[in-house]
Amino acid sequence: MPALAPSDIIAVIGAGAMGAGIAQVAAQAGHPVRLYDNSDGAAQAGIDGVRRQLEKRVAKGKMAQDEVDAIIARMSPAATLAELADSRLVVEAIVENLEVKRGVFAELESLCGPDTLLTSNTSSLSITSIAAGLERPERLAGLHFFNPAPVMKLVEVISGLATDVEVAETLYATAAAWGKVPVHASSTPGFIVNRVARPFYAEGLRLLQEGATDFATLDALLRQAGGFRMGPFELMDLIGHDVNYAVTRSVFDAYYGDTRFEPSLVQQALVEAGRLGRKSGQGFYDYRDHAAPTSPDFAPTVEAELPPLIAEGQLGAIAPLVARAEAAGLEVVRRESVSGQARLRLGGLTLALSDGRCAAERARDEGVEALVLFDLCLDYERASAIALAASPGVDAEAREPATALFQRLGLDVTWLTDTPGLVVLRTVAMLANEAADAVLQGVCSARDGDLAMQAGLNYPRGPLAWADGLGLAFVHRTLTHLQQSYGEERYRASFLLRRKALAEESFHV
Ligand code: NAI
Repeated sequence: MPALAPSDIIAVIGAGAMGAGIAQVAAQAGHPVRLYDNSDGAAQAGIDGVRRQLEKRVAKGKMAQDEVDAIIARMSPAATLAELADSRLVVEAIVENLEVKRGVFAELESLCGPDTLLTSNTSSLSITSIAAGLERPERLAGLHFFNPAPVMKLVEVISGLATDVEVAETLYATAAAWGKVPVHASSTPGFIVNRVARPFYAEGLRLLQEGATDFATLDALLRQAGGFRMGPFELMDLIGHDVNYAVTRSVFDAYYGDTRFEPSLVQQALVEAGRLGRKSGQGFYDYRDHAAPTSPDFAPTVEAELPPLIAEGQLGAIAPLVARAEAAGLEVVRRESVSGQARLRLGGLTLALSDGRCAAERARDEGVEALVLFDLCLDYERASAIALAASPGVDAEAREPATALFQRLGLDVTWLTDTPGLVVLRTVAMLANEAADAVLQGVCSARDGDLAMQAGLNYPRGPLAWADGLGLAFVHRTLTHLQQSYGEERYRASFLLRRKALAEESFHV
């Protein structure tokens, strides 16, 4: 379906943070835009706000003044809903209340022509429910922008039960014409991003609650080893714990208490204490003046003579780590292994990539005396930190060669309490699992699921492409081990992941 023409009038209802931003996006794409807000003066204030934002770009030399003038000239405040009657597309961005939104759409239906597309920017309400009761529910869809709308690329185009395929396709093409990255999603709780992202926060909170390590170290690992722009704790502090906790609760309730989405008592306590994050001066971190800085708990430098590093078996995902050791001038001996499994040996230590079992269990299962597990990295050639965990009996002195090895490669090293799946592997496995389930349930395609997480949250890789790269059998095994370790449904593997692993398929061809 073709995109709407730039001459088509776009109406935006609600001139708050989102509505003003969406109006700006449409006006920048060349459309005449009408902005309506039921609070006196709010629509004009929204347009003035857009002008101020754009003039900052002029001051930085990133935009010409006449361009700004043209964009603002295309935006006009509307005094009544009736003034939106000749719009081709209406984007509603008002208060997050089902009854109020339904009321607005019912009124619009009586005012607008039959071809007007009706959309809601809701982040948590069901599109199916918003459309219920309309005479033509097939022309209503979700058009979910992210904050700030002019900056964030992702737009989720959400189809409710009744939404016409052509309506969704037109919205998709229009969002693309506006320079956005659109994805299709069906109306289910959290849509794509707010659902698939839950484990990023939830696993961090679990690891903290279980004493794997402290929050600053977890953040550092997800940034420096996982390649995420921000760790979960600094990100939750930025979003605000009240907002993040409310989203988690609403997704948890909407999925009838599925433990995969269970809210965290750690976060609840922060909300109860009023430690909402940056906006209140304190969350996990302390943002108040004179607060002591919080640093990750990395091991001090260990100076030790290193024995040769013996690399056995099919190295697969950890081949770049061994290459990095060679490049750092370490003596590396490569050899076959009877099992074919990837193992590194360093003196009396056996080193292996985590597979979701804790070190104690894996050492027992595999008959290894001194086992050190290391975490997944997005890119072993570029990572700058790594988490390790040791089997029982590997004391501080016995750990030193492993610490020295990774430090010699330029990595910050931290030792975790022996925890299943460590940090990055566990988080990535759970993100991929959630994305796989969304695909299984027809919420989105694998392509759109990955695209949404990259364009909406700047993830360094789509979770499903990441899982493909690791091998779905490995990711499935990791999840199964996590589930066995905790005995919890929360870690159950998505059937789609299992089926694809069994068929030796991947999500992306
Ligand atoms: P906001 O509170 O900044 O703005 C809402 C605006 O709507 C206000 O100016 C208010 O006067 C106006 N309004 C309320 N009821 C109205 C009515 N019946 N008719 C006309 N105008 C009315 O809210 P925000 O943050 O812009 O959110 C708006 C919508 O966008 C909500 O559905 C929210 O869930 C969704 N959303 C919010 C995001 C965010 O990060 N803030 C991100 C994505 C979606």
